[in-house]
Amino acid sequence: HFAERKPQLLKGKKVLITAGPTREAIDPVRYVTNHSSGKMGYALAEQAIEMGAEVTLVTGPVNLMPPLKAHVIPVESAADMHDAVLNQFDASDVVIMTAAVADYKPKFYHVQKMKKQPGENVIEFERTKDILKELGENKTHQILVGFAAETNNVEEYARGKLEKKNADMIVANNVTVAGAGFGTDTNIVTIYKKDGSAIEYPKMSKADIAKNILAELSRNQKE
Ligand code: CTP
Ligand code: CA
Repeated sequence: HFAERKPQLLKGKKVLITAGPTREAIDPVRYVTNHSSGKMGYALAEQAIEMGAEVTLVTGPVNLMPPLKAHVIPVESAADMHDAVLNQFDASDVVIMTAAVADYKPKFYHVQKMKKQPGENVIEFERTKDILKELGENKTHQILVGFAAETNNVEEYARGKLEKKNADMIVANNVTVAGAGFGTDTNIVTIYKKDGSAIEYPKMSKADIAKNILAELSRNQKE
């Protein structure tokens, strides 16, 4: 009995994957975050390893076990994730940004726990750095993949992000459709490619979506 031999389509490729949410601290006990579970990024890490890649996983706080063979870099904030990704960028062949990076962070971090005040309270926010956009501006040989979780105008927004971030692929989904939301084991995605083409997939497991994305990437590399 022989074990099934997987095609090693990414043999020797260095694949950098970001996953999960970020946490933007307000004070020592509070933070702002989002619903990202990390499942898509971890599924990609697992499948990329199966396909022979060397995987670095930059991960926000999630409740998942990373694949044994992944090089794991845990991060909390968008700024931490930015620094970790930029450190690994030159050594990467492929970067897949599944992370739900916070777009805003509190402008001021309160070193002491904030106390209730009479009346309303306002927290000022400022923009974080757009990691994928920065990679797009500085890429040399790297293939860049972004994700876009939208509630409406999916195609228009996905194509806009492809352009604005100089990415090679945007994997988009409508989070309002059943079986495609946050934290689910399935998703319904469309891959929008730099050449203008799009590939629509039916509802499938995140493991199968990962296989399709990586197979598509390996095809792109050969062309
Ligand atoms: N992204 C990033 N850095 C950020 C925000 C997003 O690298 N500060 C990446 C995400 O990881 C994802 C892609 O950019 O791969 C698209 O993220 P998304 O939130 O859909 O796009 P935004 O440009 O932030 O636009 P908006 O949230 O306004 O739709
Ligand atoms: Ca965003």
